[in-house]
Amino acid sequence: MELLLKNANIVTDSENYISDLYIVDGTIQRIEKNIEIPTTKVIDLKGKYLIPGGIDVHTHFNIDVGIAKSVDDFYTGTVAAACGGTTTIIDHMGFGPKGCSLHYQLERYHEFAENNAVIDYGFHGVIQHIDKKILDEIDSMIADGVTSFKGYMTYGYKLSDRDMLELSQKIATAGGLLTVHPENNDMIDYLKNNFASEGKLSPKYHGESRPSRCEGEAVNRMLDITSVTNCPLYIVHLSCSEGLEHIKVAKDMGQKVFAETCPQYLVLDESCYSLPEKEGLKYICSPPIREKRHQEKLWAGIKEGYIQTVATDHCSFNFLEQKIMGKDDFRKCPNGLPGVETRIPLIFSEGVSKERININKFVEVVSTNPAKLFGIYPQKGCIQVGSDADLVVIDPNIRKKISKENLHENTDYTPFEGIEVIGYPVMTISRGEIIVEDNKFMGKKGRGKFLKRKKFSL
Ligand code: URP
Ligand code: ZN
Ligand code: ZN
Repeated sequence: MELLLKNANIVTDSENYISDLYIVDGTIQRIEKNIEIPTTKVIDLKGKYLIPGGIDVHTHFNIDVGIAKSVDDFYTGTVAAACGGTTTIIDHMGFGPKGCSLHYQLERYHEFAENNAVIDYGFHGVIQHIDKKILDEIDSMIADGVTSFKGYMTYGYKLSDRDMLELSQKIATAGGLLTVHPENNDMIDYLKNNFASEGKLSPKYHGESRPSRCEGEAVNRMLDITSVTNCPLYIVHLSCSEGLEHIKVAKDMGQKVFAETCPQYLVLDESCYSLPEKEGLKYICSPPIREKRHQEKLWAGIKEGYIQTVATDHCSFNFLEQKIMGKDDFRKCPNGLPGVETRIPLIFSEGVSKERININKFVEVVSTNPAKLFGIYPQKGCIQVGSDADLVVIDPNIRKKISKENLHENTDYTPFEGIEVIGYPVMTISRGEIIVEDNKFMGKKGRGKFLKRKKFSL
């Protein structure tokens, strides 16, 4: 299969230039001006940007959180991702039965994704408990291409500081990357119960029971723990300036720490929790949406290189049947937001079009850095001869309002409803195949391939 892209404004993490690009059998074969090959399919991209396909390293498809099952599976979730300009996802395997092995969950997730995913995918291991068996399994998971492991500091399967110490020691020697959801569980528990005893159960108290200090403290604790074991640390869904300040200090001192933020923390603010008609429930996620003051700090963190990636934490529940379970008590609302389809448009618009970051930084945080950090570079995350032809065309002149009606996510709402974006992906190419054109998915169910990722090596 061949494809010739003409006059593309190619943008990578470090370059912008006009060129033609010739794809054969899923990989980029030539990048030159004036390529003339008469028989192939030719597309003129004059006036549009051509970027490496987006890589979203934080999704939760098929997740069951006990009180609810997310509504996107590996088919609907990856179709939505593709329509939003993402060509690779790395999913957090959900929790399995108590005490299960890492490979048990890996097999379940292979079953979920195979024959369903429409773009390429990988998995993060999720650590539910620590014992010798689990620690011994880390090596074979890495051999099987799962090279990053997530530990939660809150929720049901939270790990203790001692667990994190043991886990990070093992991951450091095995050549993996530790990813952490940092929140101080005792603080949350105490505040939640206090609010509940005072009858303060509206969505606003979800945010107030998880203050930014509680995230900052946990980030700092993890930095100390991993500095002792010399383990590379990746902070997921960073939402606040307190956490960012700790990361800056550690990074400037040479520690291997990396941070991810998400569109919801860059474009929404805590006022969403006070919306009428219980709409505040739509925004319940952890960490919560913060006060506005955090947004510009996070954008600055991206610009200055302290935050390396923007992912989504896509964890989708319907408003009407699922989020609404929290109508009388925020604690009964399943945590998580949809967003896999709106990441590229929002970050391009709020970042590049509004001149908070330049377009190379945009490519760096939505594609190149995720590929490098999670062991799939240069197969993905770049535009180079020999790399997979995972490419996205962005028309910078399109203006449109984000609306559930135009999205493919399987939820009955989007938290970004009504936001006007400038610039939108108009074509998604995965391994040389055009799978989305003008917001229409054209690929085949199950065409996505599992990515056996390399060990951490930055
Ligand atoms: O509220 C959230 N973020 N739910 C998804 C699970 C997680 O914490 O990443
Ligand atoms: Zn989390
Ligand atoms: Zn998550």
